[in-house]
Amino acid sequence: MVGGRRWLHLDRVAERLYAVVSLLAAAGWLAVAAGYGVGRPMPAVLWLGGVAVAFPWWWHHRIRGVQVVADSSVVEIFNERVGASGYALPGAKLTDVASIKNGWAGVIKLPPGKLATQNAISATEMVMSAYDAEPGSLVIEPTASGRASEARLMVLSQNPLHDTLPWPGPGEFDPATGIAPIGIYADGEPALYRFYQPGSGAVHDLIAGAIGSGKSRLVDELLAYERASGLIVSWVIDPQRGQSLPDWMDNVPWSARDLEEGMRMIRAVHRVMLTRNAYFATMSWTDDKGRKRRGKAHFDPTPDIPLLSVTIEEAHQLLRLEQARELVEDIAKMSRKCGVRLRLIVQVPLLDQLGGSTTIRDSLASGNVIVFRTANPLSGHGIQRHHPRRPTPTAPYVPQRPTHRRHGLPTRRLLPTGTNAHPLRR
Ligand SMILES: Nc1ncnc2c1ncn2[C@@H]1O[C@H](COP(=O)(O)OP(=O)(O)O)[C@@H](O)[C@H]1O
Ligand SMILES: [Mg+2]
Repeated sequence: MVGGRRWLHLDRVAERLYAVVSLLAAAGWLAVAAGYGVGRPMPAVLWLGGVAVAFPWWWHHRIRGVQVVADSSVVEIFNERVGASGYALPGAKLTDVASIKNGWAGVIKLPPGKLATQNAISATEMVMSAYDAEPGSLVIEPTASGRASEARLMVLSQNPLHDTLPWPGPGEFDPATGIAPIGIYADGEPALYRFYQPGSGAVHDLIAGAIGSGKSRLVDELLAYERASGLIVSWVIDPQRGQSLPDWMDNVPWSARDLEEGMRMIRAVHRVMLTRNAYFATMSWTDDKGRKRRGKAHFDPTPDIPLLSVTIEEAHQLLRLEQARELVEDIAKMSRKCGVRLRLIVQVPLLDQLGGSTTIRDSLASGNVIVFRTANPLSGHGIQRHHPRRPTPTAPYVPQRPTHRRHGLPTRRLLPTGTNAHPLRR
């Protein structure tokens, strides 16, 4: 009975052949053993024969690598409706197609010298049309390597960026690396944010986005991490009388509610920086090899000398003042080694929002750059053009989803964790 039912499951000739051979081998050995006895060489025959017969089974059930999507139509559709001449990305090829958690992903190889990553990102809507994909379920972004002749294509059966993601709390911050998750990407990977680089020093932030795009609520999350870290002191300038970050005005050591107080704070930050410069320049310390050394060229935060994190909401207002701009330029350039970081929040990532200062832009662009929905889709170029790997998508992308780039890694679309978890009411 059982044998009969099994036989029906073996629907391939090779499988049936294998079953017959195994059965005959076992029966044969048993028959010979019955007549001849189990003395030499019968045990050896059993062992070697067993291994030989089992080998195809083991091979079939070996642990296999990432399962490539067998459905070749994915590539066919790409060739026909995307890469063909007269279509969105003529000459492009789709390679390395593989399943991911909730869909599939592949690498778009672009014709070198003709098309670049940014063209592929701009073609997102056309590719969505080619695959007849639901809005938001198809993502094109730079590959991890950041190569200009490639882009990553993801098609998701269910886009995690569409759901609310509760903030798990400040415990996710890792003091050893200076990193905390601030949301997720479309493929479910965590979006990581860096407060400082161990062995180096402070890392700056630039956060940009239109009014109501979610900047201040992200800053709530970041300030909550800082407050719980025990290694970071937050100072906040909110020129709108403290209305952007109301929960923090009375809950950080120093908050400024107008530009005048903001100027005072910037001057103080500058002094802290110079004082720390002088202190670290002559400081005696013991390095990891136990050697006595004098003068420290890097900064690692400790409870005694914490990282000073200065948040400047509506930074364009403060940077319009020449005096503020000069001090912020100085701080942006020199503060890494003494543990002072800047978090500038502007509405569009354009140079004029930073008081026209390329110094400020270049210093901030090497840290965390987070771009929310901007009113004009082209404004993403302003900051990004001067950075080797970058692009803020200039083409239509899912509204409300910010992009995020960390430390020279490519820009990716991100879902910040929800603010339903109140920063002060954990
Ligand atoms: N991460 C988030 N999760 C849920 N809702 C959010 C989130 N970020 C922003 N919002 C909603 O958007 C509104 C505007 O966000 P806000 O951060 O004040 O914008 P901005 O500072 O860019 O002007 C908030 O009042 C809130 O309702
Ligand atoms: Mg705001």
